Amino acid sequence: MFETLPEPKIDGIIALMQAFAEDARVGKLDLGVGVYRDAAGRTPVMAAVKAAEARITETQESKTYLSLAGDAAFLEAMSGLLLGDAAAPARIAAVGTPGGTAAVRQIAELVGQANPQARIWVSAQTWPNHGPLIAAVGREARSYRYLDAATGTLDRAGMFADLEQMDAGDVLLLHGCCHNPTGVDLSAEDWEEIARLLERRGLIPFVDMAYQGFGAGLDDDAAGLRMLTRRLPEVLIAASCSKNFGLYRERVGIAMAVGPEDLRARLAATLGVLNRRVFAFPPDHGGRVVSTILGDAEMRHQWQAELGQMRERVVENRLGLAEALRSEVQSGRFDFVAAQQGMFSILPLRSDQVDALREAHGIYMLWDGRTNMAGLNAQTVPVLARALAEVLRKG
Ligand code: LMR
Repeated sequence: MFETLPEPKIDGIIALMQAFAEDARVGKLDLGVGVYRDAAGRTPVMAAVKAAEARITETQESKTYLSLAGDAAFLEAMSGLLLGDAAAPARIAAVGTPGGTAAVRQIAELVGQANPQARIWVSAQTWPNHGPLIAAVGREARSYRYLDAATGTLDRAGMFADLEQMDAGDVLLLHGCCHNPTGVDLSAEDWEEIARLLERRGLIPFVDMAYQGFGAGLDDDAAGLRMLTRRLPEVLIAASCSKNFGLYRERVGIAMAVGPEDLRARLAATLGVLNRRVFAFPPDHGGRVVSTILGDAEMRHQWQAELGQMRERVVENRLGLAEALRSEVQSGRFDFVAAQQGMFSILPLRSDQVDALREAHGIYMLWDGRTNMAGLNAQTVPVLARALAEVLRKG
């Protein structure tokens, strides 16, 4: 039977990671996968994480199974981090998941169980795994316009025109902050207008929060999500601790459904059953690291300081790149890089120009020009700017 197995479609991010690993050139530069790197190009374990791990090693007495939802302390701590006081605990059903990826999958499956007709609408450019995850659980994904490529800002009119095409009960997937791949975030007014649209049309918001703390700060980044949660009866959430706790390979995520209090038990049980069918119990170690940090004033303070430094470095890289490009290409056409937020921006390049950067300069970015701003540093910003200018000069 194996000979009839079709060739799999490998995700472009994963394919690029492989190609980068196989590239033997010394000065190669990875701006592909969304991973934070410090000034020396490393992705270190955060000091707060090390401290929490030491405490866990010291005090943990058992690794026996917990419930299908995972560690209650993790779920409670993450509810607080994401929602603040926007929802009473009695409205929140949550389960741990292996990373934000599995959270997206579980929420998409929950949608199908609750309303098999519901379509899930994603921004026209979105995290490349959103579509496949939604399709894998048999849901239909539709897209709405998002980026105005000419200005590097939100195509507001296009977005709202497309959202008017949604049917009552459809689900709108929004990036909580640090939109991946465009770096274009919704303003407070955009969030308000979206809330009005959701209310008027009977639509359900689904917020993917993978970069809380990398945009404007922990609370500011969650402001849109919290406003929706205060106003709307039902909100779906998938969140990841990969980036803001640097726990990438530990796979730490949470799937949440905020709804009416009388449905909470059914929602929680359904999320647990969905976990049981794919991986049964969520991984524990990373979530325990997160709840240990968030539950200890000193560790939390240390983590927030470290996350703040990461955020500032990304902003520095953005400002530095915009400036370096201004002088290299003698125009302000890349100034949008400084105004956008989070790890990613899309540099407006043709695919042959992206290929040329990789082949001639060893600079790896995604096929659509998505560039990881958190992968740069003071040495590599000018390298990227010079290489870009050269590729652009060749036309
Ligand atoms: C990315 O977008 O590069 C990251 O979220 C990593 C991933 O899992 O795709």
